[in-house]
Amino acid sequence: MTQMNDQRILEIYEKKATKHGDYNAVLDASDNPISMRANMWHDYFLKREMAVILKPKNTDVLLDFGTGVGRLSIFFSPLVSKIVGIDVSQKMLDIAKKKQPKNVEYLLASDFYTQKNRDDQFDKIYSCWVLASISNELLKESIKQLYPALKSGGKFVFLEQTKKNDLFEGDNHVKRSVRTYIKMFEEEGFVLEEYKHAIRIPAYTMNFWKKNSWLPKAILPAFYLIEKRLLNRKPEFIDYYTTAFVFKKQKKSLNLFGQSK
Ligand SMILES: C[S@@+](CC[C@H](N)C(=O)[O-])C[C@H]1O[C@@H](n2cnc3c(N)ncnc32)[C@H](O)[C@@H]1O
Repeated sequence: MTQMNDQRILEIYEKKATKHGDYNAVLDASDNPISMRANMWHDYFLKREMAVILKPKNTDVLLDFGTGVGRLSIFFSPLVSKIVGIDVSQKMLDIAKKKQPKNVEYLLASDFYTQKNRDDQFDKIYSCWVLASISNELLKESIKQLYPALKSGGKFVFLEQTKKNDLFEGDNHVKRSVRTYIKMFEEEGFVLEEYKHAIRIPAYTMNFWKKNSWLPKAILPAFYLIEKRLLNRKPEFIDYYTTAFVFKKQKKSLNLFGQSK
């Protein structure tokens, strides 16, 4: 048993959605302008890192697990065929629906899990900063529910905050180790394709960005390149990473008669 409380986590996200009504609800939801400024930085970096591992194609049918206010589904929708965004928070989904692109569908996770014909539908599942807000027990159950939804050979890619050892933060957040994520996904039948640290915190360019509010968003691509160069410099000063994971659903093997086993 872990000390995380999934019901309380849902209540926290519902409150954040009510308070902000935009992407600040799914990043740092504090009220102050400095946090909102930091959210612009994170919004840019997370979208860019997700694009790198997701490699969206125009034929892709995607599942956005923990879509929140639809920040990433809106970003990826012009690049792919279809996205289904699911979340436990109806309030988050209500915000997402206000800007719902034509090829995106938003659903409560519980409704998705009980849908008929959802198996073998998706080329990729992606998830950004969601798994850290789910207890070990519910995460295991969620991976079990999501696995059949992927086509054979499909991928589950995610960005999540990691530390060397699992660190539970109160009853609503956990920074797991890379080891723990690999074990949890492998136990449910996934095969690790790759993982790599993507963002370090503290980041080198964040304070400069926050302190100089006159700096335009156009500077963020340059900051991204700086961060890439400095990702592994002085690791003793790194508190945690956002790590990119790619897991694969194994292709079904065929028997002598060409039927899947
Ligand atoms: C930090 S936000 C990230 C939202 C979005 N992925 C993004 O990057 O903009 C985490 C989201 O996960 C959702 N969430 C929490 N537990 C979940 C669960 N068990 N299943 C699906 N979504 C969940 C929350 O309601 C919230 O919208």
